[in-house]
Amino acid sequence: MWGKVIFTEKPRDNVENIFDRTSEISMIKKVLDTGDWLAILGPRMIGKTSMAKAILNEYKNDYNTLYIDLTGIKNSGDAINKIFNNMPKNLIDRFKDDFEIRGINIMGNSIKLNKKINNTDVMESLFNLLSRKKTMIVLDEFQELSFGINHFINMLHNIMMENKNIVFIFTGSSIGLMKTLLEQKGKNPLAGRNPVKVVLEPWDRQTAVDYLKSGLINCNANINETEINEAINEIGTITGWLNFYGRRRCIYNHNDALNESLDEAVKVARYELNNIINKSAWKRKALKMMAFGSGYNEILSKTKVSTSTLANFLHRLEKLYLIKNDNRTYYIVDNIYRKAIK
Ligand SMILES: Nc1ncnc2c1ncn2[C@@H]1O[C@H](COP(=O)(O)OP(=O)(O)O)[C@@H](O)[C@H]1O
Ligand SMILES: [Mg+2]
Repeated sequence: MWGKVIFTEKPRDNVENIFDRTSEISMIKKVLDTGDWLAILGPRMIGKTSMAKAILNEYKNDYNTLYIDLTGIKNSGDAINKIFNNMPKNLIDRFKDDFEIRGINIMGNSIKLNKKINNTDVMESLFNLLSRKKTMIVLDEFQELSFGINHFINMLHNIMMENKNIVFIFTGSSIGLMKTLLEQKGKNPLAGRNPVKVVLEPWDRQTAVDYLKSGLINCNANINETEINEAINEIGTITGWLNFYGRRRCIYNHNDALNESLDEAVKVARYELNNIINKSAWKRKALKMMAFGSGYNEILSKTKVSTSTLANFLHRLEKLYLIKNDNRTYYIVDNIYRKAIK
């Protein structure tokens, strides 16, 4: 039913190489075809970058396409450089004079900004230049822009008002994107053009089994049902971690492959959880309790916070797909996150 699975570290950049996700892809296409902006959400390693790149590839005949990875950027100057470096060469040549008028001097492969100009103004003009042709821009790991987010959102607002030729695809961890873009404290500056959210969720068990089997067959590794079941019990069904296990299992034995995958995954989950906990002792306690499953009243009495504070926190965790609630018993869904908080 799907193309063959090859375990590799690289994100996919073609829909043919995306396993499953057919309903997400068709929903994304519907959104983009109506010219709406899109936010691809989901936990780390679920396949957001892969999806964004594969989708850009689908639209490359009709649009200028730009993929911009915002990982690790420190300020708006960095962001401008990244955008510039990802612009098609022919556009840069064509707009050289426009750039200079706007205070951007092109020097070989980099740019120098005139000190007197405002970085978000520059960015806005870059985007406006791009939008002379239909343009689709992926801003991957958008939450990393959090330092200048208010200016950036303002700029997006201006772009949105000025032209319809530019489509943005934002991706990021659910936690980060909600914080920076989708839940701007009470404000709604992107009203009318709020990105449509598409969430990539962990696979169901059968899809994970099919994915692992297909990749293991392809590298001639031994297929053993017990091992595959254990791998999924331990790792869960997030694609990137299954892919990590698969890559190792193609080279050596099941136990080593599994242990190494778990170590890596738990490290990343811990980092995410620390972001959520944000140094608050009661939040850590609540999450620990939920690793084993815990009732609402029990959490309330142990954390000693007010009902509304706790309810807000739990609601937020549910929106992040981190916990589920079964008859007011709350528990962490993913095994990796359970291990990470213990
Ligand atoms: N649907 C998919 N089919 C095949 N491989 C995938 C799929 N989704 C993710 N992967 C693989 O999983 C790994 C992590 O994916 P990535 O797109 O980097 O995740 P994210 O950006 O959400 O952290 C990559 O190696 C990628 O090739
Ligand atoms: Mg990514």
